[in-house]
Amino acid sequence: MDTTAYLLEALAQTSTAVEKKLDRLLELSTAGEHRLVEAMRYSMFAGGKRLRPFLVVCSADLFGVEKLSSLRAAAAVECIHCYSLIHDDLPAMDDDEMRRGKPTAHIEFDEATAILAGDALQSLAFEILSSPETHVDPNVRCELVSKLAKASGMHGMVGGQMMDIEAPEKEISMGEVTHLQHMKTGALIGYSVAAGAILGKASAHKTKLLQSYARDLGLAFQITDDLLDLRGNEKKVGKALSKDADKGKATFVSLLGEERAQNQAKILIEQAISRLDEFGDSAVLLKALAQYVLNRDK
Ligand code: IPE
Ligand code: IPE
Ligand code: MG
Ligand code: MG
Ligand code: MG
Repeated sequence: MDTTAYLLEALAQTSTAVEKKLDRLLELSTAGEHRLVEAMRYSMFAGGKRLRPFLVVCSADLFGVEKLSSLRAAAAVECIHCYSLIHDDLPAMDDDEMRRGKPTAHIEFDEATAILAGDALQSLAFEILSSPETHVDPNVRCELVSKLAKASGMHGMVGGQMMDIEAPEKEISMGEVTHLQHMKTGALIGYSVAAGAILGKASAHKTKLLQSYARDLGLAFQITDDLLDLRGNEKKVGKALSKDADKGKATFVSLLGEERAQNQAKILIEQAISRLDEFGDSAVLLKALAQYVLNRDK
């Protein structure tokens, strides 16, 4: 089997396994909060590439972590990601009506329900991580929780979203765009890889190598997202395109132009892959995923 086929099969397997976990964690309630859970499930099971869960599982596999643990951490990361997408699409933010090929949560339900579904997905992520089912060692659970709080909070994803919203009103430099992208997208991708290392009690050295990989990958991932907004196929991508330029978003594409942004993504991906040299063949999937991110059409 060639590497791409191997990657796609592994990605599909992890998606199925993590969705099974999420299905149980998001059990429909017959009580008064029924509509809330329905909205959470609507956004969660609308598709999605599940790349962050895959990063958690691949990183954890490097250290022989039990699947039960890595899949729960993977589910938690996807909850945070899904909440970030629901809020990102709100009229007060990017004002988008299509996500994962379906109407966005506030269109399908209403704004209040979408906000609450995002809030509840965020809480659920921490509930999952803090449960002894995720890991027997309370120190490991505590580190998983505190690192996710940091990655998704004011100096991570949410901080990046704030800068993204403010950027169109400002002159913004390459350094500032890089910082913004590291925060809004890189932080959660970085956490995904870190979660596997935390679960596996990895050495400081190996953790650092994985962090460097994730830092390059996260930035390249946002560049390819911005390139897809410019030239992707709406049906494949599952969201309305050509929105960034309309909204005056600060991106690598708006600052460097299409060709140089693409080249930057390529350099970052090559660098990301080389960070994993020491892991040898055990990191084949993480390396293949980086290549996939560079060439993705969705
Ligand atoms: C989209 O993320 C939001 C960004 C951070 C650019 P994905 O492209 O991973 O979205 P899904 O999960 O596959 O829908
Ligand atoms: C979103 O970035 C990053 C998040 C933290 C959700 P974008 O606004 O570019 O993501 P899309 O293009 O709507 O998926
Ligand atoms: Mg946005
Ligand atoms: Mg958006
Ligand atoms: Mg985008």
